[in-house]
Amino acid sequence: MTFTAKLHSGNLVQATYPVLVAPIFEEEPLSQPLRELDKAWRGAVSKAYKSEVLSKEGEVYVMPSPLGKGIEHLAFVGMGKSSDCDTDAVRRAAGSAAGFLRKRNFSHIVFLVEPFVPRHESLETAAMALIEGARLASYSFDRFKSEKDPHVLTSADLHLPKGANVKELVPALDRTLTLTTSTLLTRDWANTPSNNATPTDLAQLAKDIAREAGLGVRVLDEKECEKTGMGAFLGVARGSRQPAKFIVLDYKPRKYSKTICMVGKALTFDSGGISIKPALDMHVMKGDMGGGIAVIATMRALGILQPERVRVIGVVPACENMPGGNAMKPGDIVHTQSGLSIEVQNTDAEGRLVVADGLEYGRREYQPDAIIDVATLTGACIIALGERVAGFWTDYEELAFPMLRASQVTGERVWRMPLVKDYDEFLKSDVADTKNIGKKEGGAIFGALFLKKFVGDTPWLHLDIAGPFWSNETQPYIPRGATGYGPRLLYHFITDWLESS
Ligand code: BES
Ligand code: ZN
Ligand code: ZN
Repeated sequence: MTFTAKLHSGNLVQATYPVLVAPIFEEEPLSQPLRELDKAWRGAVSKAYKSEVLSKEGEVYVMPSPLGKGIEHLAFVGMGKSSDCDTDAVRRAAGSAAGFLRKRNFSHIVFLVEPFVPRHESLETAAMALIEGARLASYSFDRFKSEKDPHVLTSADLHLPKGANVKELVPALDRTLTLTTSTLLTRDWANTPSNNATPTDLAQLAKDIAREAGLGVRVLDEKECEKTGMGAFLGVARGSRQPAKFIVLDYKPRKYSKTICMVGKALTFDSGGISIKPALDMHVMKGDMGGGIAVIATMRALGILQPERVRVIGVVPACENMPGGNAMKPGDIVHTQSGLSIEVQNTDAEGRLVVADGLEYGRREYQPDAIIDVATLTGACIIALGERVAGFWTDYEELAFPMLRASQVTGERVWRMPLVKDYDEFLKSDVADTKNIGKKEGGAIFGALFLKKFVGDTPWLHLDIAGPFWSNETQPYIPRGATGYGPRLLYHFITDWLESS
């Protein structure tokens, strides 16, 4: 996964690149830097620059240089109307260009940054979006294939405008490379089948990452979870032969004024348990650890990037939901650490049980200023928002706004959903303090209302990523399968929350 991105500036005519990538907008003339190249190329650029046919979003056109030296190829990537162009459009364009070019054996590409910068956006923002788009588009999960994908993009460089302060971009570039590595790590683990990504494997990964990124780590085994009183988590795990692991990562700078805790659902496989799922597409449930791996990958980025003033705890309860002989049965009653009793009416609503114990543990052990959970929690959230938007729930504006702003920055889409107080009556049980399902209608809201019972007065936000953790289509910078949703969003959420609180 080695990938580099260098920063260049200076005269285009003297540059030597295998391919320079430039945007092409509807009804817009050749940009200034390309006019210089056009002169050197004796008009070949302007001749090829047909904005009416090439400006369609995602279109890529490559031409060789007529000179046989300097820049060898010029690639245009269609952008549509410049008035519609935002940061994510730049990211998508970079993804389209990188995807197209790597399939044609370019392993090294260079973006001409200046004409990509959308109105009202900074050079830095656009520059980083280009690198993200290119890198994220150049992923293929071929670990289990005999024939590996030979088309590997190893670098995406930036050609910056003359006079740009290259040094100023270096921290942003480091951050972008670290965060995209975490995104790809998230994809890898959510794509890996459950026989190669067990709770034990995930615990080992957490330990390796703790060493790599300088984090504290603790893994509770089933006995320790029992002692702690995690009856809901253990109830889910008991139908499987794979031992459950309760993983905790700790990013603790020398000085900090705030603590935030992230809980990530990590079902390394969710068969539904005794309330077993239909066979169709059940394999996707190998990725039901999308929230947990996103938390682990975010912790990795935090350890490497070392933001100041904030301690971050990553709590990842990891287990399988299986219908083994010892499995929990519909109607069984389990207890979380606080003692709240839960009637399990549907064993497939297991995520909320696992996350409930995670939330209680995080609050008790660390008394965080805020707690968030990230989970592939409900199919109902996909019905509500479609596959490409995550839902979030919070009663706290100081968490909602950082989440909305982070989403704007990273292009990982979110939408705020309501915590409807009076729906709580549908979570009442005849035999226990609560039950784990509400109604089918508004199903995603019941997941959130259930979790709310375990956070007391700690400011809390719940993020349901059941839709966007997976993609059934190839998108410009997202291949089919696990998308790696989460780490970029969570990192920006934390730093924004810190700055705004
Ligand atoms: N892991 C699933 C939710 C899910 C579905 C995630 C599809 C990603 C894609 C979760 O554990 C689940 O099965 N939820 C049930 C809840 C229901 C029984 C109340 C669901 O959504 O059907
Ligand atoms: Zn389930
Ligand atoms: Zn699940």
